[in-house]
Amino acid sequence: MNPVRSFRSLVRFRPIEFRSRTRRLSRAASVDDLRLQAKRRLPRAVFDYIDGGAEDERTLDRNVSGYARVEFRPRILRDVSNVDTSISLFGRSLPTPLILAPTGFTRIADPQGELAVARAAARVGVPYNLSTMGTRSIEEVAAVSDGPKWFQVYAWRDRGLVAELIGRARDAGYEAIMLTVDTAVLGRRERDVRQGTTLPPKIGLSTIVDGVIHPAWTYGLLTNDPITFANVAGRHDLDGSSAITLADYTGSQFDPALSWEEVEWLRSRWDGPIILKGVQTVADAELAVAHGVEGIAISNHGGRQLDDAPPVIELIEPVAQAVAGRSAVIADGGVRRGGDILKALALGADAVMAGRAYLYGLGAAGEAGVDHVLGLLLDGLRRSMALSGCRTIGEIERDLVAWRSDPANVERGGR
Ligand SMILES: Cc1cc2nc3c(=O)[nH]c(=O)nc-3n(C[C@H](O)[C@H](O)[C@H](O)COP(=O)(O)O)c2cc1C
Repeated sequence: MNPVRSFRSLVRFRPIEFRSRTRRLSRAASVDDLRLQAKRRLPRAVFDYIDGGAEDERTLDRNVSGYARVEFRPRILRDVSNVDTSISLFGRSLPTPLILAPTGFTRIADPQGELAVARAAARVGVPYNLSTMGTRSIEEVAAVSDGPKWFQVYAWRDRGLVAELIGRARDAGYEAIMLTVDTAVLGRRERDVRQGTTLPPKIGLSTIVDGVIHPAWTYGLLTNDPITFANVAGRHDLDGSSAITLADYTGSQFDPALSWEEVEWLRSRWDGPIILKGVQTVADAELAVAHGVEGIAISNHGGRQLDDAPPVIELIEPVAQAVAGRSAVIADGGVRRGGDILKALALGADAVMAGRAYLYGLGAAGEAGVDHVLGLLLDGLRRSMALSGCRTIGEIERDLVAWRSDPANVERGGR
C-alpha cells in the first residue's frame, strides 16, 4: 500500500475562498451562527437594538425557547420524494408559508436595508412586509421588487398621514395592510436605555470608538445617503433627520387612544386584506374576527413590548381553534429554524413571520446574508417535512407534534 496515495485519498482541501463575505456565509450553518456573525460585525448599540427585547427579555427568550417545548411525532415510509410547501393565503398562491415581518430602521444593519431584504424575498416569492418606520420608502421598495409586498402601519396621531401612506401603498401595488396594535406606548428596551441609543445613532465618543472597531459597518454608513424614516421624508419633525430616541419618537407620534374603531376606519379606506398584528389573547382574536379582519398575527412584537406577555407558540392552538378558519392565523416571533415553521403550522397557524432571523443575515453579510437565511429556513422546512412524513402543507396535522413533558430542560442556549 502506498501511504502517500492513501493519505491523499482521505484528505480533501477545500479551495481557499478569498471573498470574506462568501467565506463567512459558508460557515453559517444556522440562523444562530449568523446572529453571532452580526454581533461581531455591527457596533454594539446597533446589534442590541436589533437583538434586544423589553425589560428582562423573558418574553423574547420564551418566544425562542418555546419552540423547543414542542416535539415531533414523525411518520415513516410515506414516499417524501416530492415535498410541496406551497399554500394559498388571502386568495394568492405562495411557494411557502413564510412572510418577512416588518422591521423599522433596517438600514442600520446594512446600507441597502429594505431594498436588500425586498429583493431577497422576491427571489423566493416570500411576501415582504415593509414597515411604516422603514428607511426606504414604499415606492423605492416597489421599484426593486415585483414579489408580493405588504405594508405595515402604526396608528399615527395624524390619521391623514396614515390615509396618505395606505393610498401610496395601494398605488405601488402592495397587496395587504398590517395594522400593528401592540405599540400604544413603546416597550422599555433596557439595552437601548443603557446605551442611550438614538435613531439615527448620535455621533459621540463611544460611537467613534465603536465605528473604528467595526470599520465595514462605518464605511457603509459614511458612504451612503443618510438614514431617515423614508416614508415621511421631508417632514422634518417626523423623518428622523435629527437623532431621537425611539421612545420619544413613538410617544410624540403614535396615538395611545387607538381602539377597535380604527380597524373600521382602516376598512373604509382599504379594500384588500387587513391583518391585525399584536393579538395576544383568544378574546381579542375573537373580537378581531368580529371586526372582519382577514388575518390575525399572533405577536408580542418579538418580545420588545410587554415583558411576560405569553410566548407566541403557546397561543397558536387556542387562537386557531377559536378563530376556526374565519380569519388566517399568522404566528410571529421566535422562528429561527424551518422546523419551527412546521411546528407552528401543526399547532394551527396558516403561516409564520420572521423578523430578527433576516436582520441577523443582513447584519452579518448584507443581501447575500438574507438570501442565506431564507435558504436555511426554507430548506429546513422542506427537510423537516420530509423527515416527518409530510408531503404537502395540507398533510400537516395536529398529531404531528406534542408538548414535551419535561419543559424545564428545554431552554435553548446561544443568547
Ligand atoms: C429591529 C426590529 C424592528 C422592528 N420594527 C417593527 C416595526 O417597525 N413595526 C412592527 O410592526 N414590528 C416591528 N418589529 C417586530 C417584528 O415585526 C416582529 O414582530 C418580530 O421581529 C418577531 O419576532 P422575531 O424577531 O423573533 O422573529 C421589529 C422587530 C425588530 C427586531
